[in-house]
Amino acid sequence: MNDKIGIFDSGLGGLSILKELLSILPNEDYLFYEDSINNPYGEKSDDELFEITSNIVEYLLKNNCKIIVIACNTATTSCMKKLKEKYKNTIFVGTVPAIKIAYDNDYKDTLVLATNYTINSKRVSELINTYNNHSQKITLASGKNLANLIDEGDNKKINDLLLEILSPYQNADSLILGCTHYSLIKNEIQKVLPNTVLLDGCIGVAKEVKNQLVNNNLLNKSESKGKIVIENNKSKDLIDRSYDILNN
Ligand code: DGL
Repeated sequence: MNDKIGIFDSGLGGLSILKELLSILPNEDYLFYEDSINNPYGEKSDDELFEITSNIVEYLLKNNCKIIVIACNTATTSCMKKLKEKYKNTIFVGTVPAIKIAYDNDYKDTLVLATNYTINSKRVSELINTYNNHSQKITLASGKNLANLIDEGDNKKINDLLLEILSPYQNADSLILGCTHYSLIKNEIQKVLPNTVLLDGCIGVAKEVKNQLVNNNLLNKSESKGKIVIENNKSKDLIDRSYDILNN
């Protein structure tokens, strides 16, 4: 029976979406697949990403997932359309930088912090073209190897890199966390840009998952807490750290 919510990311970043899911859908069962061996996705080509993500989708489907959450902006902007075409009967929910939220709130000077792949993607230009009302400035900045450092848990290197990347943007009124990994280091980002509002699309993704489950009559009717399984193809340590992050 297809009973779980399948989630994947190139590493720990997807935890930021899993956290939001648990707060609104606590009774569901989850299988979160962390593809740390292939981190960083942000430096890969479309073909590589499509092959990697197809393999993960097959794995999640084999493990009875009823919906698949692409908890990664890079994989979504690169592969979501093609995955939907390839797996026609599967429900996918993806993650894209929260550009709409910036426009809806009328921010005037928005920085999008995302992976190299995402900031150069066609999908992000489409989002900007769709929502830009020309009175808002939007700047794209690459987080370079931040996602990698976050998986490694190297706080000194994370803080040094944040200073290097973000210091020139003290006047930004808003910053879009355009990579799910970055939502895990909101406090560190806020320290470098204390006057900037951080915009996070993870809550919206979780709400969309709930809508899809409701609309397709797939909600788990159980009244007890669901089971959470986290797998990581690189190390057991990363699994332990993931449960720690989830529980704190
Ligand atoms: N967490 C991913 C995202 O949201 C990507 C990190 C990576 O480059 O692997 O874009």
